[in-house]
Amino acid sequence: MQPNAGTVTAEVGNVVWQTLFKHLLDGVVYARLIYDRGLAVDFVYLAVNPAFMRASGLSRAVGRRASDVIPDLRASNPELIERYARVAAGGQPEKFEVFIGAIDQWYQISLSSPAPEHFVAIFNGISRRKRAEALNDSLQAHLQQAQQMQAINISSSGVAHDLNNILMAILGFADLAARDSAIANPKAQRGYLNEVRLAAERARELVQKILQPKPPAQDADGTPALNPQIPIEESLKMLNVLLPAGIVLSSLLTQVPPIRVSGIDLQQMLMNLVLNGRDAISAAGGTGTINVALTACALAQVQCTSCLATFSGNYVEVEVADSGSGVSSDASRAMFNLFYTTKAPGAGSGLGLSVVDGLVHAVGGHIIVEHLRPQGTAMRLVFKA
Ligand SMILES: Nc1ncnc2c1ncn2[C@@H]1O[C@H](COP(=O)(O)OP(=O)(O)O)[C@@H](O)[C@H]1O
Ligand SMILES: [Mg+2]
Repeated sequence: MQPNAGTVTAEVGNVVWQTLFKHLLDGVVYARLIYDRGLAVDFVYLAVNPAFMRASGLSRAVGRRASDVIPDLRASNPELIERYARVAAGGQPEKFEVFIGAIDQWYQISLSSPAPEHFVAIFNGISRRKRAEALNDSLQAHLQQAQQMQAINISSSGVAHDLNNILMAILGFADLAARDSAIANPKAQRGYLNEVRLAAERARELVQKILQPKPPAQDADGTPALNPQIPIEESLKMLNVLLPAGIVLSSLLTQVPPIRVSGIDLQQMLMNLVLNGRDAISAAGGTGTINVALTACALAQVQCTSCLATFSGNYVEVEVADSGSGVSSDASRAMFNLFYTTKAPGAGSGLGLSVVDGLVHAVGGHIIVEHLRPQGTAMRLVFKA
């Protein structure tokens, strides 16, 4: 802490040092370390400035040992004395932030050594900033939690919406099984009852999704590879009982490479798309066709209608094409928004496409909407092959 003799005289330097020491708003401590068998274990305060006394409340520290002035210091901050010793042994000056538990305060400490075994520490109190930072961190954590809760709520409403569709399928198969014609034909009846059981199993898997919600942005790597044909065929059977007589559901499912998506998620997506097709056909008069196609394809510079990303590569595509009303221009801008619906209250929830959008992107896929000629819509879900 000697003034630079090249620029000021010793006398001026002394005045500068004295003034700084007295008036600096930061606390200054000048101290000598005490060693036991070569190890720094304590220190003696040789000088402390008024700011240090004010901040610490230690007015009679000079001449006393740290272990006497702040008895808990070594227990709360064993590393502090090590640092003082390192600098006092000729190490580089150091500047660091530390929480001193013994006095419940945060400091930024600038440390240097004017002579062997001695150190000068300048204490800048930063407790207020640290508390503000901690508050900010905890607010952030709360916000994140609130967002997660919201995501879980949304996915629960989506599941409730899809569960309703499955319950409709169960009721449909149960009605079929109860008909006289089925009673007269036990084989057919067993077939319907088997569909009831399969649909109920899907319902159970969906409920499982509410009971054990997974984070929304989970990646596809952990999902085992799946042959999409099997869950799609199963959904088509269920959908057949949900569609009114004027709608013909057909499918063309080709052999494709496995994809990383869960069967229940794929079924949720497919059910939502086909039922949207049903509604679009009802809106356009009530008769029409819905085609489901499963194909492998190589895509070049295609744009996702929802996230707008452009992508290329080998994909597996699940396409649902309907001959319905087509998407209105208002709807084509907003259809993926949560709760957006053009349907009458009770008929639409605005959840279907949000759920599809969330599920397809969660596994790194995309969705492409095509406007068909002369009329209708094709929704193409693509998954990395
Ligand atoms: N196949 C389709 N043909 C025409 N419009 C569609 C189709 N699919 C979705 N839409 C439009 O997107 C909106 C949002 O769909 P969705 O999120 O499934 O909610 P909901 O079906 O409950 O209205 C629909 O209300 C409709 O306007
Ligand atoms: Mg819908």
